Amino acid sequence: MSTDLDYLQTVLPAPSARLAGKVVLVSGGGSSGPGWSIGKACCVTLARHGASVCVLDANLDAARDALCAVKALGAQGIALQADVADAAAMERAVQAVMSAYGRIDILQANAGIGKVGGPEDIALADWERIQKVNVDSLLIASRLILPIMSKQGHGSIITVSSVAGMRYLGYPHLAYNVTKAAIIHFARMIAQQYAEQGIRANTVVPGLIDTPRVRNTVAKMFSADDFEQAKAARDRQVPMGRMGTPWEVANAVAFLASDEAAYITGTELVVDGGLIGKYV
Ligand SMILES: NC(=O)c1ccc[n+]([C@@H]2O[C@H](COP(=O)([O-])OP(=O)(O)OC[C@H]3O[C@@H](n4cnc5c(N)ncnc54)[C@H](O)[C@@H]3O)[C@@H](O)[C@H]2O)c1
Repeated sequence: MSTDLDYLQTVLPAPSARLAGKVVLVSGGGSSGPGWSIGKACCVTLARHGASVCVLDANLDAARDALCAVKALGAQGIALQADVADAAAMERAVQAVMSAYGRIDILQANAGIGKVGGPEDIALADWERIQKVNVDSLLIASRLILPIMSKQGHGSIITVSSVAGMRYLGYPHLAYNVTKAAIIHFARMIAQQYAEQGIRANTVVPGLIDTPRVRNTVAKMFSADDFEQAKAARDRQVPMGRMGTPWEVANAVAFLASDEAAYITGTELVVDGGLIGKYV
């Protein structure tokens, strides 16, 4: 599927040179199952606009799979294995990017995890792991990459939150929602502190997106017969009547990454089919 060029032609924008010569690092750039996650769609979309794409994932096979799609489009890139919460592994990964390309223009901090539960039922170990992967990882990556971008005199950081970081979506998902809120503020703070160094930091805020992870979660919660019904219910939650595609999030990321967003920093771009307006 990853190298199915016919499929990619139907979902990708026209090729462009908007990101030509740029080196991008996408964390969680693989997919947790067959099909297209947000990170994997971003890798391919950024490649479509001319970027060289360094795909980082805890699962090396998933990173290689995404890289395969990047290369099928004729773009360059490398696959890297690292847990975003592991500072030493991230340092090795960033060094590998620097050895390969000598620069990092764009960081898309996309890897994220969650677990359903409220304050009385989430295990402390799960809470801590979610904080580490979703928030501590931003500190780890920023400490490594901000000095590189500062030296370059430019850079674009895009973090990935969720509408769940802004609203209660009808079920307890406390650790995820709290970390997704922190991600927004993290990017805002970086944007303020590093604006003079030419570094922009923004957050993309996806709504309900149809990815392998979401399908797996829904499949686990419902029997095969009920799966389509559950998916349809999720579609109906959205004012536009459907979940978003990872490609729709990827297009927003590509915009924020590009020079077309040169005067945009410290803000959020919500990609949710109108969902957030429903929960005011
Ligand atoms: N799918 C949605 O509806 C939705 C909505 C809002 C926000 N998001 C956010 O978008 C991002 C991507 O979600 P998705 O559903 O597309 O992807 P996904 O769950 O399929 O994960 C993408 C990749 O992240 C990798 N990953 C997980 N933990 C990692 C770690 N510690 N270090 C490195 N890699 C790791 C996985 O191996 C996987 O290949 C997440 O941050 C998620 O919270 C998703």
